[in-house]
Amino acid sequence: MKKVEDYVRSIPDFPKEGIVFRDVTTVLQDPDGFQLAIDEIDNLLKDVDYDVVVGPESRGFIFGVPIAYKNHKGFVPARKKGKLPCETVSMEYALEYGTAVVELHKDSIKPGQKVVIVDDLIATGGTIEAIIKLIEELGGEVVKVVFLMELEGLKGRDKLKGYNVDAVIKYE
Ligand code: PRP
Ligand code: ADE
Repeated sequence: MKKVEDYVRSIPDFPKEGIVFRDVTTVLQDPDGFQLAIDEIDNLLKDVDYDVVVGPESRGFIFGVPIAYKNHKGFVPARKKGKLPCETVSMEYALEYGTAVVELHKDSIKPGQKVVIVDDLIATGGTIEAIIKLIEELGGEVVKVVFLMELEGLKGRDKLKGYNVDAVIKYE
C-alpha cells in the first residue's frame, strides 16, 4: 500500500541550486495519490470545529477546495496582489529574494468565524504568517493550519508560534 509521500516527486536544484523542489503534480495526477492526499489532510481536521477554509494562491487552492467541499464549508482564496476585484486587505511578506503581497476580500471572513488554512507546503512560513495577519485583521480566528508537506529545516513553524499547525509529510 503506497503512502502519500511515495507520490511526491523531488527535484534537486529547482528553481535554483541547492533547493530540493517537492513537486505535487505527481500526487495530483494519480487518482490514488490525489485521494490519499485529500483524505490525509482531512484526517488532520477531523476534531476541529471550523466555518471556512482559506487557501493561498495557487497550490493552496488545489488542496483547500476539496477539503471545503467535502465538509460543506466555504472556501476563501488568498490571492496575489491585484487579482481580487472588490475591496481588499493586503499584506507584504518576505520571499527568499524580495517581497510579495497577498490579499483577501474585506468581506470574505466575518468577525468570529473559525478559519482553517490549507496549503501544499510550508517553507519559511512567510506566506502563512501574512495570511494569518489578514484573517485576524478581519476578525477571524485561525483554529488550525494544515499542510501536505513541511520543510522542517526552514523552521517555518517558528513564525506560527501559538497556532495549531500540522503537516501530513515532514521533510528534515
Ligand atoms: C509556495 C507554496 C506555499 C509557499 C510556501 O507557493 O505553495 O504557498 O510557497 O513558502 P513559504 O512558507 O516560504 O512562504 P508560491 O508562492 O510559490 O506560489 P504557487 O503556489 O503559485 O506556486
Ligand atoms: N515552495 C517553497 N519551497 C519549496 C520547495 N522546496 N518545494 C516546493 N515548493 C516550494
